[in-house]
Amino acid sequence: MTAPVDLETQARLVGGASHFSTHCASCHSAPGVEAEDMAVGMYPKPPVLKDVAQRYTPGELFWILKHGIKMSGMPSWADHGDDDLWNIVAFLGSLPGMNSSDYQALVAQAGAAGGHHTHHDMDMPMPRP
Ligand code: HEC
Repeated sequence: MTAPVDLETQARLVGGASHFSTHCASCHSAPGVEAEDMAVGMYPKPPVLKDVAQRYTPGELFWILKHGIKMSGMPSWADHGDDDLWNIVAFLGSLPGMNSSDYQALVAQAGAAGGHHTHHDMDMPMPRP
């Protein structure tokens, strides 16, 4: 998988922060945010992802998100569109330099931009009378 050329844009970062705070931080923690109790008891334990982008290429991270990790608690996120997954990859790429206030600012920006899942809502069929 080749990363999109606009991977490093702020829009992707904000979109990724929105997904990360909703779906990932509970297991993987985030800057200034602890993982939840459930995740602490998991085996294998969900790793903190701070340096994950240094160990995998964007294409590999995309693959992990799309397929999950076999025989572990890491789910597949294939029900998210590819664009969402790339946003999360972009977010992971900027985790190394991110402190908790950077993270909070991104999540707040995502909320101000309409928050999580707005684009999925548009896919929902309209109820018919
Ligand atoms: C239910 C808990 C859970 C959730 C939610 C979850 N993960 Fe994971 N994740 C795991 C576990 C457990 C592993 C470790 C698997 C292993 O070691 O084999 C993992 C591994 C990973 C890895 C590989 C890390 C490495 O060092 O090899 C990445 C990247 C990752 N997760 C990203 C994410 C992202 C991004 C999200 C949100 C879209 C997410 N995960 C949501 C449990 C979770």
